[in-house]
Amino acid sequence: VERKVAVVSAAQTKYGKSPVTARELALTAAADCIDQAGADPKEIGLGVVANCFGVVESQAHLAPILMTQIGNPSAPSFTVESACSSGGSALHIAFAGVRSGLYDTVLCVGVERVTHLPLAKSTEYFSMGSDYSFEGCCGATFPGLYAVMARAHMHERGTKSEDLAAVAVKNHENASMNPKAHLQKRITVDEVLASPLVADPLHFFDCCPFSDGAAAILVTTEEKARKMGGESVEVAASVRTGGPAALQSRERLDSLDAARRAAGLAYRQARITPKDVGFAEVHDCFTIAEVMAIEDLGLVGAKEAPRAAAEGITARDGAIPVNASGGLKAKGHPVGATGLGQVVEVFDQMLARAGTRQVPRSDVGLTHNVGATGGSCAVHVFKRMR
Ligand SMILES: CC(C)(COP(=O)(O)OP(=O)(O)OC[C@H]1O[C@@H](n2cnc3c(N)ncnc32)[C@H](O)[C@@H]1OP(=O)(O)O)[C@@H](O)C(=O)NCCC(=O)NCCS
Repeated sequence: VERKVAVVSAAQTKYGKSPVTARELALTAAADCIDQAGADPKEIGLGVVANCFGVVESQAHLAPILMTQIGNPSAPSFTVESACSSGGSALHIAFAGVRSGLYDTVLCVGVERVTHLPLAKSTEYFSMGSDYSFEGCCGATFPGLYAVMARAHMHERGTKSEDLAAVAVKNHENASMNPKAHLQKRITVDEVLASPLVADPLHFFDCCPFSDGAAAILVTTEEKARKMGGESVEVAASVRTGGPAALQSRERLDSLDAARRAAGLAYRQARITPKDVGFAEVHDCFTIAEVMAIEDLGLVGAKEAPRAAAEGITARDGAIPVNASGGLKAKGHPVGATGLGQVVEVFDQMLARAGTRQVPRSDVGLTHNVGATGGSCAVHVFKRMR
């Protein structure tokens, strides 16, 4: 019999510019998560820390440091680097560990701190997540690479700058209701279109910010979750795929192959169809990424995808609420933390503790976490534990 896997608690720090180091951020999120579950840190069998840029604070190998800080230094632990999908990848490892019976309880913590770096430095470091020999080394930045995909989408699908702007407007509005979000200011379509071009056709407000922050979740068996007594959420599917890293290796630029395949496998594993998904947290590092994601996930049809935000389909009260948290665009994108922060939002929505941004249908939630421009992708499906 396959063991069911549950998330029993989820916590995150506020995203934004942090005056404290990544290791302090990680500890804050982890301690809050453990406290909420009422768990004994000694019962944690494995620690997985998602982090990409620890070295900018002269600190790699964050996992055993965190495990020592929480009082369980002898537990095995390791740090996962998978560019922007590090958090989702950490959960996938936790899922595999618990499902297989190798571990009963796994702590996943994602963390990043980069805002103390000058913009040119962080942009350069982030570009190392691309296929650097072909892309980064030639000066391609992430805004530049996503701009290529946006241009292809516009050319092939008729997507307009206004359509992309509507994604930013929606996600900023959602973030204005999220006290943990980095950018809590509402914006208008006109403001997006009038903002400077970062990489044509992407404007300033089409981009996510550089953020600091941490998120933590505690993953365990269904049996243990019940014993712990609190409310929990079932991880009904955990899929991690890969795709060609460089854009030049792709057959098409208006979709991510890794995301399409991850979605198909996740729906099969969770025994649901896209129609059953009540809400989703998707990887909108740039507005075009959300347009591609909702189509790759089958949440909307190919024709609907470009105008889904403009037409309110993906609004909090729309047919399929997307990024009720504010998404990477406005909640923020501390890369190591992002994928686990998405799970924190799903957990809060499912436990009906998302306040004014609560979505109407929270019985089935989905997270979609992309590494770089699609070299990796993690898709998870969550159901209320019955
Ligand atoms: C868009 C970008 C160039 C802006 O950087 P910047 O010009 O240095 O911006 P600053 O940090 O000086 O911020 C200026 C103000 O705009 C806000 N801001 C920064 N980035 C923002 C963004 N993307 N959207 C909206 N507001 C933003 C800041 O909070 C700040 O507001 P404040 O003055 O009220 O504090 C930068 O955020 C960027 O490159 N983003 C993409 C990050 C990326 O590639 N991530 C990886 C994705 S795969």
